[in-house]
Amino acid sequence: MALAEFLTALDDLASRAGKAFADSADNVALEAARVEFLGAKSGQIKNVQKQLGTIPGPDKPAAGKRFNEVKNEIEAAFAAAGERLAREPGQGSKRKAFDLTLPGRPVRLGRLHPLTQTIEELKDIMGRLGFSVADGPEVEDEWHNFEALNIPASHPARDPLENFYLATAKVSGGTGVSPVLRTADTGKMPVPPGEEKVSAPMLLRSQTSTVQIRVMEKTRPPLRVISLGRVYRPDTADATHYPMFHQIEGLLVDYHVTMADLKSVLRLFASSFLGSDVHIRFRPSFFPFTEPSVEVDMQWNDRWIEMGGAGMVDPNVLKAVGYDPDEVTGFAFGLGVERVCARRHGVSDIREFYKNDIRFLHQF
Ligand code: FA5
Repeated sequence: MALAEFLTALDDLASRAGKAFADSADNVALEAARVEFLGAKSGQIKNVQKQLGTIPGPDKPAAGKRFNEVKNEIEAAFAAAGERLAREPGQGSKRKAFDLTLPGRPVRLGRLHPLTQTIEELKDIMGRLGFSVADGPEVEDEWHNFEALNIPASHPARDPLENFYLATAKVSGGTGVSPVLRTADTGKMPVPPGEEKVSAPMLLRSQTSTVQIRVMEKTRPPLRVISLGRVYRPDTADATHYPMFHQIEGLLVDYHVTMADLKSVLRLFASSFLGSDVHIRFRPSFFPFTEPSVEVDMQWNDRWIEMGGAGMVDPNVLKAVGYDPDEVTGFAFGLGVERVCARRHGVSDIREFYKNDIRFLHQF
């Protein structure tokens, strides 16, 4: 391209761009004009710049100099149009003048989930009764979830349909509805015939009583511990059930511990958390790992709601962890955290705790 022709094209571009920016009535039009003329990929200035390469060698410096001038002019016209729109109320930038005298907007502070608050308070109450906190894994083996708790392989509580077994495991227990689960059964990862690998059965723990065993395996009596955490059961969700929920487990092993100690501790626990006017009652029940066993109910709006299970640690459990049942006795309890939290705050459906509705959570 000849130099003269190039310079004419540049002048034409400068006047068209200047007019387009000056005529832009609002930010949308200005942005469209910017893309048209200054757009990085196919803006008109870019197209003219490409033609610089076609200018004969001796004319190149003059063409380049003029190109830079025009480019600066167009950019300045764009900036000026932006400033003009910013000054026009309602047309340009939505930003209003900043009024330093306006009161600040309140910052909404987050808060702990009601279940977390409950867990912290329960730890505090039990801490004052001398119980320390122990932890255990949520993925458990059958020994800690069943065997050591005196729940034999034939017990219905071990049925694969009553638990969340991990799919790679061979399940040894249950009533035989589905006695073996292998990876192949999931349909996701076929195992070639002859190469079937069966690992030790593992499951999501169905109760925090597993931690009783873990603590007793490592500690000599006397001991007082609580454990709080998530447990999993394939229960249908309703107002008092959820497939994942929390339990608080308590265990006390000492010399001459009696059922009266258990009842006193649970009454103190209930009145500290639910108020001194709360009524609780004990019903005879059965758990394989406690003897005698009771179910503990709390009164709520003239109804009795099951709060948990409890009892004196079965001698077989004490033996399983190497304790001498002739020497020490103990009590244990496991309570539903969602249920006590619901009663404390008057929440009639525990599913509310898992909806993550900020309007609900903000009330605690
Ligand atoms: C047990 O889990 C025993 N491990 C309790 C225990 C511990 C007995 C120590 C003796 C000694 P149970 O299955 O009843 O027991 O559950 C205890 C409590 O957990 C129930 O009373 C209830 O408050 C709560 N719970 C049970 N299932 C659910 C569920 N699906 N959703 C919410 N809470 C539940």
